Amino acid sequence: MPKFKQVIICSGPTVEPIDPIRFISNRSSGKSGLKLVQKAVERGYSGIIFITGPTCFDIANPAYSVLPVETALQMRENLLRYSDDAEVIIMAAAVSDYRVANYSQEKIKKDKEILTLQLVKNPDILLELGQRKKPGQILVGYAAETNDIFNNARKKFIKKNLDLLVLNEISDKNPAFNVEFNQVYFLTAAGDFHVLDRMEKIDLADRVWDEIEKLASR
Ligand code: CTP
Repeated sequence: MPKFKQVIICSGPTVEPIDPIRFISNRSSGKSGLKLVQKAVERGYSGIIFITGPTCFDIANPAYSVLPVETALQMRENLLRYSDDAEVIIMAAAVSDYRVANYSQEKIKKDKEILTLQLVKNPDILLELGQRKKPGQILVGYAAETNDIFNNARKKFIKKNLDLLVLNEISDKNPAFNVEFNQVYFLTAAGDFHVLDRMEKIDLADRVWDEIEKLASR
């Protein structure tokens, strides 16, 4: 089985500032990404780069490099800096699709009854990684869907030029956020969905690496 020497794991939310006090963000604890990093270390991989949005976990560890980021633009910059040399890139981050167009240097006072924020679209980082993917590089994406989940996932898999898509169906039965257990589907070829048992996120991280090792050995 391959022992990867250059892997990037990117997770957590991005945080997009409105003013020095407030921000908009996404629901993501960053737990799944951290478990992927821990399992990569256990498997003896080296050259592990962990790019992460703000989380409440203690992530420092001499076994890997941590690059903490806040915004989607910072996340993109770090990913693109290191992506060319990576054998595996896992993009598990909950990137804010939009950022605030006009950041206010001063705290916005609540003197208006209605406050309108203008949002501008952030770059789709995974799409860019897919476009510049190197031969042999394995690109893994995540998707969180609430409706028409297989169709949406298939489209993302193709459009973003992925090798593996981990699909979360978000529902009351499977909240996926801030919980220990999760149930997902793997998509490794358009139309080829594989449902996994409901399991702890730490075990799911193992299944993700199993699948990546299988892809690398093909
Ligand atoms: N992603 C990204 N950059 C973005 C948005 C998403 O790299 N600006 C990545 C996520 O990290 C994830 C994958 O794309 O691996 C799918 O994210 P998801 O939010 O499910 O889908 P989107 O592509 O953003 O599409 P939509 O929100 O319209 O469903």
